[in-house]
Amino acid sequence: MIAPALDFAPLDKILDEFKGRKDTVIPILQRAQDVYGYLPKEILQAISKKAGIPLSRLYGVATFYAQFHLKRRGRHLVKVCDGTACHVRGAPRIVDGLEEALNLAPGNSDPDYKYSLEIVYCLGSCGLAPIATVDDKVYGQTETQRLVEALRQLE
Ligand code: FES
Repeated sequence: MIAPALDFAPLDKILDEFKGRKDTVIPILQRAQDVYGYLPKEILQAISKKAGIPLSRLYGVATFYAQFHLKRRGRHLVKVCDGTACHVRGAPRIVDGLEEALNLAPGNSDPDYKYSLEIVYCLGSCGLAPIATVDDKVYGQTETQRLVEALRQLE
């Protein structure tokens, strides 16, 4: 799927709001990410140019904080735990199954940007291993097929 062209008007509005204020890098990046869903390089370049913030500083902040994303993400965030307890109870099978069924690989999104998949290492509920989460919903003792079906139901 081709990414839609970026509309810079919302960014100009954000930059206007922060004009003349100090320590605005994080709030500008947060607002921009709220609008665009992630921080595309074109948006970081535009922020740098229009707000006079060095691009290296913007990348430094955006890569330091886990809340910022430089790659386009799917509408739903899937996390599969591959900590020790989940690993021995089948997490690798779940990860392989998601890739096979939905073309969803760790650290990436599916081709339609419906889902993004992250691998995490212990969600603190090892008794329910293997665990996956989809947005805020937890799937304990999950199986690939059940998870794939739940994901297909989502808009
Ligand atoms: S190892 Fe998966 S929840 Fe702890």
